[in-house]
Amino acid sequence: MKKRKTILNIQKMKADGEKIAVLTCYDYATALIMDGCGIDIILVGDSAGVVCAGYDNTLPVTMEEMIYHTKAVMRSEPKALVVADMPFLSYQIDLATARLNAGRLVKEGGAAAVKLEGGANVAATIAAIVAMDVPVVAHIGLTPQSLHRMGGYLVQGRKEDQAEKLLADARAVEAAGAFAVVLEGIPLQLAGRITEELTIPTIGIGAGPSCDGQVLVIHDILGLCEKYSPKFVKQFVNLKPIISEAVTNYIAEVKDGSFPTEGHSFH
Ligand code: KIV
Repeated sequence: MKKRKTILNIQKMKADGEKIAVLTCYDYATALIMDGCGIDIILVGDSAGVVCAGYDNTLPVTMEEMIYHTKAVMRSEPKALVVADMPFLSYQIDLATARLNAGRLVKEGGAAAVKLEGGANVAATIAAIVAMDVPVVAHIGLTPQSLHRMGGYLVQGRKEDQAEKLLADARAVEAAGAFAVVLEGIPLQLAGRITEELTIPTIGIGAGPSCDGQVLVIHDILGLCEKYSPKFVKQFVNLKPIISEAVTNYIAEVKDGSFPTEGHSFH
């Protein structure tokens, strides 16, 4: 049985000044690979709806879909801490629904923690979930489930009053008991200020280098998602032409009869 990272290990990394590496993951095979590489946190993000299911945004994602992806990742028995995203409408209605759905991601999905979007407006929800011993990662700044309020995937906190509000949000989620907070799409100076002030780790995505850790969507670092490519994404490899070549060769070999050979067959 592998020793799994806990929220204590993650919090100690901030105290020790060790950066926290986080990637999204939605399936068993990819989880096996990234866990073998030593990723600290696997985030079963609701971005699954966009990169796996092809939705336009994360709003249609359901609890059932999140549980399905979380279970698939957990079957890889990862050493990483696994955090599952709470999808839109799973925590906004009332505290009882939020607690039930957070509990389902742990009980049915197998996650060790959940993530939800929002600041001071969800502080009571975070506190209610933490009170039943489910650790929570908060997510502030550019929160994709607030797409329609934001009017697009726009950088948040550029104006002084917005920056003050985000600082207040960060303080509120820490006070509510979140053990870490994702800072998405905010100016790097603001992310630095929040990171310095909070005792919990900050995990940045489009929030500059001062955060305690970084998260990216796995499809983005592998070159597998062409829908949009924000400035903060770094593509570490472009798998698309590699996969295309393999599939093209497969089709050609099936068509010309050179695959399968006798060696691929049974007697
Ligand atoms: O759903 C997601 O992938 C996220 C990120 C922070 C990348 O919430």
